[in-house]
Amino acid sequence: MKVAVYPGSFDPITLGHLDVVVRANRLFDRVIVAVAKREEKHPLFSWEERIALARQATAGIAGVMVEGFDGLLVDFVRAKGADAVVRGLRAVMDFDYEFQMALTNRKMAPEVETIFFVPSEKFFYLSSSLVRELARAGAELSCFAPPVVVAALKKKFGEKV
Ligand code: PNS
Repeated sequence: MKVAVYPGSFDPITLGHLDVVVRANRLFDRVIVAVAKREEKHPLFSWEERIALARQATAGIAGVMVEGFDGLLVDFVRAKGADAVVRGLRAVMDFDYEFQMALTNRKMAPEVETIFFVPSEKFFYLSSSLVRELARAGAELSCFAPPVVVAALKKKFGEKV
């Protein structure tokens, strides 16, 4: 049984994240979407809210589960007995950060492989921060975020969204 961990802040989970989940799910028997606590980043949604939104957004995808984690990613990966860490790689802007993270994780846990998935070009410039910004400005969000997230953003920012 091959297990992948897909970590992130997921503040909130977007259609770009879900695209990566679906791609990873084709190659792995189980994909654990791992929602990092990261309260030092002052996320818009609380840890519990981000976990709940990710859970609802992935509810229809067999083989995918959502869990929260705090502390080092490699500790979580080892505790789950997972085979790989999965991340989405968009335009070149992601490369430095992702490379640094993958190599740091390898230094700490040489047995954990990082695998990058290229999302659909529809989502190449999509990020959670863009979704938050659009929501604040009252933009239409249905092509960027799953319905549960659109509803949660409406609740946060009022009916403008
Ligand atoms: O969605 P993000 O914010 O780009 O995700 C970054 C995340 C949560 C995957 C990364 O910050 C992380 O793994 N944090 C846990 C702490 C850790 O293990 N840090 C070392 C990785 S270099």
